[in-house]
Amino acid sequence: MGIATEELERRIRSCTLCRLHRRRKNAVPGEGPLSARVMLVGEAPGRNEDLRGVPFCGAAGRFLDELLKIAGLKREEVYITNVVKCRPPQNRPPRDDEIEICVKNYLRKQLEIIRPELIVVLGRTAAKALLNEEVTMAVDHGKERKVRFSGRGIRAFVTYHPAAALYGAATRLKLREDFSRLAEIIKAMKA
Ligand code: URA
Repeated sequence: MGIATEELERRIRSCTLCRLHRRRKNAVPGEGPLSARVMLVGEAPGRNEDLRGVPFCGAAGRFLDELLKIAGLKREEVYITNVVKCRPPQNRPPRDDEIEICVKNYLRKQLEIIRPELIVVLGRTAAKALLNEEVTMAVDHGKERKVRFSGRGIRAFVTYHPAAALYGAATRLKLREDFSRLAEIIKAMKA
């Protein structure tokens, strides 16, 4: 881990810039190699993530592991993080000011350090935070967009949040189909 990342992680773990720090057990900076070519961005830590300080380590994480396998990706080769790094109370959606603070101070810095070739945008909160355009998940899932960052456009693949799939077989199927499509993109990237 580079010095810049260690320092950023330390700052995230001790952050008090928004109200979410008050009730967290652990902030969740993210996980994965700095050399990752693919970065996945979810919404916010849930209960398990808050307890362990690790992203996607509960039920949604187990489904994400299955999806990564479909895409031909190993968890150890991708960088996984969230838009906000602290668990919102009762898993409510993060508020606009919380998103703004966390993206400006942390997610953008993570993008600068990791410089991914492809961002997998998991759900509406991540889409709202990363894309400068409205997405309608029902229409835009499984499609590529661009994340504008530091004067360049990073490829972004938009899909549903894995947690949404835990409540419905239809979304589960759509996610599996999206990750099969993602497998083609990954294969081309690695070729
Ligand atoms: N949901 C998220 O968005 N992120 C996690 O880390 C876990 C659940």
